[in-house]
Amino acid sequence: MEKNSVKKVRVTDIIKKKNKEKIVALTAYDYTMAKILDDTGIDIILIGDSAANVIMGYKTTLPINVKEMLVFTEAVSRGVKRALVVADMPFLSYQISLEEGVKNAGLFLKKGAEAVKIEGASLDILKLIEKLVSDGVPVMGHIGLTPQSIHFYGGYRVVGKDRTEEKKLIEGAKKLEEAGCFSLVLEKIPLKLAKKITKILKIPTIGIGAGPYCDGQILVINDLLGMDPSFSPKYVRRYADLYTIIGNAVKKFKEDVEKGNFPSEKESF
Ligand code: KIV
Repeated sequence: MEKNSVKKVRVTDIIKKKNKEKIVALTAYDYTMAKILDDTGIDIILIGDSAANVIMGYKTTLPINVKEMLVFTEAVSRGVKRALVVADMPFLSYQISLEEGVKNAGLFLKKGAEAVKIEGASLDILKLIEKLVSDGVPVMGHIGLTPQSIHFYGGYRVVGKDRTEEKKLIEGAKKLEEAGCFSLVLEKIPLKLAKKITKILKIPTIGIGAGPYCDGQILVINDLLGMDPSFSPKYVRRYADLYTIIGNAVKKFKEDVEKGNFPSEKESF
């Protein structure tokens, strides 16, 4: 074994953590950030289709496509040695047909992802997940507020507050587990419902805006680092203020260049 070899996190390690240790997951979209996150020892790095928002500047996740997500997936995969790499399947990459879903999922694995994430729990999605799992492609499910269905929900609201939605989410969670998902993202649902689903399932739940009782937590890295002061939903905790830190560094650089203080002779050849 190599001296500096690291033990790779596998899907089985994620499942084993349920009821023992919390699962820590974050998004990343590029090589450098993926490397920084991986060095901290987190469990999962998700190439989220939130790249549509935080990298590409779209208002929703709907416009991003497979080709773009594959570029981010390849870059992130190159930076990760340890964490489990999960790629988000973007809108229309798995809804058109089972065949297209399988082919697109395969493309993400070819670029280095070790699992894919798919939103929803409709019959077609369940069939696709069963097929992928039988083909050896691990799948992370995603229910609650699924951003690719934003126009259906009519906004980024909490889902599962009424009895009908709650029942649908519990049924969906059970079916996703039966279909073979190795974990399930619960997004923006009441904490009591997330607790209930977490208790019912054998696979781990990973929450975002779903309270403290999930088996793990995920955040978009840009939100955790405070890169956009205009975006501060209730469920995000900012652990840094990179907007200010980066802005101040750039202002200092600008000042130094304008005053002729950068570069110095020492920084020259
Ligand atoms: O796209 C994304 O970042 C997600 C999350 C679960 C954070 O789907």
